[in-house]
Amino acid sequence: MTVQPVNLSGLDLRTEIDRLRIERKAVILAHYYQKPELQDLADFVGDSLELSRKAAATDAEVIAFCGVKFMAETAKILSPEKIVVLPDVNAGCSLEDSCPPEKFAAFRAVHPEHIALTYINCSTEVKALSDVIVTSSSAETILAQIDPAQKIIFGPDRHLGGYLNRKFNRDMLLWPGVCIVHEAFSETELLKLKIKHPHAPIAAHPECPPAIVDHADYVGSTSGILNYAKAMDSAGLGGTLIVATEPHIIHQMQLAMPEKTFIGAPGADGNCNCNICPYMALNTLEKLYLSLRDLTPRVEIEEGLRLQAKRSLDRMLEMAGGTVGKGDLGRR
Ligand code: 13P
Ligand code: SF4
Repeated sequence: MTVQPVNLSGLDLRTEIDRLRIERKAVILAHYYQKPELQDLADFVGDSLELSRKAAATDAEVIAFCGVKFMAETAKILSPEKIVVLPDVNAGCSLEDSCPPEKFAAFRAVHPEHIALTYINCSTEVKALSDVIVTSSSAETILAQIDPAQKIIFGPDRHLGGYLNRKFNRDMLLWPGVCIVHEAFSETELLKLKIKHPHAPIAAHPECPPAIVDHADYVGSTSGILNYAKAMDSAGLGGTLIVATEPHIIHQMQLAMPEKTFIGAPGADGNCNCNICPYMALNTLEKLYLSLRDLTPRVEIEEGLRLQAKRSLDRMLEMAGGTVGKGDLGRR
């Protein structure tokens, strides 16, 4: 869908967004991969699990979701009575795209003894076909509660699934999806960077391929990586951190620890923008303003499908318990 250009010159967008936020009784949620100006305006910035919890708990009438489609849909599944807007309707995800519901259903049908443990980065239809949803910050806690003899399909992220298989000595069947952003980190360039900063630890997201994760001192969700950065002083880790996830998260690190140095892990040519999520980048201040003004693009989900998808999400929220959400997959 093409978003029509609108002339907003002369408007102070931050003031207008603040006005509309009150008028609409709206809450603005933002993921750590959003542009700094959106993170700064948001009422809450978090990882996928924290954002799901906020979406389920808020008493706002409107949720403006600065993130991608599967996140805004999760908010709608958990809070159907609220209006949920996504500033750019084209903000998708390569993991969601890798897993068409009909192919996932066919795969499940040939593995009737397997349950489906599914990463939240998928469509509502795939959530409806799944038994339990996980995020990167809840996956470990949830997997630990599943009988080791239980056969499992894990999708759509083969790197997160492979990481969990190695760490928990499981043999989950992996759907072959990847995040194009984390897939683009280069091991060679990372090692060159490490030679320049030999004392800097590496923190990596589990969506990274094993060649990157294997060099990491810490592996965890976005909020886990942020917490690791905040604990650098108390853990005696020095003043520099190499960050192997989407680089917009560095904004929160710099706000919390302006005296430290955070270096984004490099992509293939050492200097590309290939680790910026092109889907997250579609959201802008202008589009957020328009979505609050016009209450579009709105997320709508057919009620039967929503209830099906809610079961696997509710299971995640129950099994993740109250302590998860600090983003911890932990050290390797
Ligand atoms: P988390 O913030 O839950 O770690 O998810 C990362 C991600 O890729 C979101 O799209
Ligand atoms: Fe999807 Fe990767 Fe972008 Fe997250 S960073 S929304 S997993 S493409």
